[in-house]
Amino acid sequence: MRIDIITVLPELLKSPFEASILKRAIEAGLVEVHLHNLRNYTTDNYNSVDDYQFGGGAGMVMMVEPIDKCISKLKSERDYDEVIYMTPDGNTLNQGIANQLSLKENIIILCGHYKGVDQRVRDHFITREISIGDYVLSGGELGAAVLCDAVIRLIPGVLGNETSALTDSFQDNLLAPPIYTRPRDYKGWKVPEVLFSGNFPEIEKWREEQAYKRTKKRRPDLLDE
Ligand code: ADE
Repeated sequence: MRIDIITVLPELLKSPFEASILKRAIEAGLVEVHLHNLRNYTTDNYNSVDDYQFGGGAGMVMMVEPIDKCISKLKSERDYDEVIYMTPDGNTLNQGIANQLSLKENIIILCGHYKGVDQRVRDHFITREISIGDYVLSGGELGAAVLCDAVIRLIPGVLGNETSALTDSFQDNLLAPPIYTRPRDYKGWKVPEVLFSGNFPEIEKWREEQAYKRTKKRRPDLLDE
């Protein structure tokens, strides 16, 4: 998979890809992540990426031309499955969207700033708009980092234990069950006996029940989906 991220703040997006699982995924060649500084595609002497809003109103708008230049250059080099715009008014990211995107070959992610982008960018280039939640960030970069993390860990081979993404919360619209490790008894706080039974169907049944109970209590909305 290849991810091209278009941003005015590439420095904000470096560190998430320089540590832990994402770094290893890149080193293993399972994913390529390329950052593109939108300022390199500007056409005036000031390297402007934004301008005043037609019709008046507070806040600057990201201009169509630098974004067009950047996306068109990328598209001249390869085909893209999706051009995603990070915006608080997009579809809220969930595990289903992450699963779908993890199967794509090449995607572009455009990070919004200021008031957002000229509507013509959305009309003519964007195939999908994603929000990471109902709150406003100062730019799309942190949202893009969250999206990339959620997607990249699902690419086959990225997680050490191939099955571990399958047992994550949300994979079957259930939250994950409680988990324990040593010691078996800490200050009298005991690990449930069933986990030592060696009876794996029994353990699996217990986990499913716990997952269901937890979901019913914390996120009953997931059970309606
Ligand atoms: N840009 C600003 N707020 C955002 C959000 N909630 N999700 C994605 N991109 C954003």
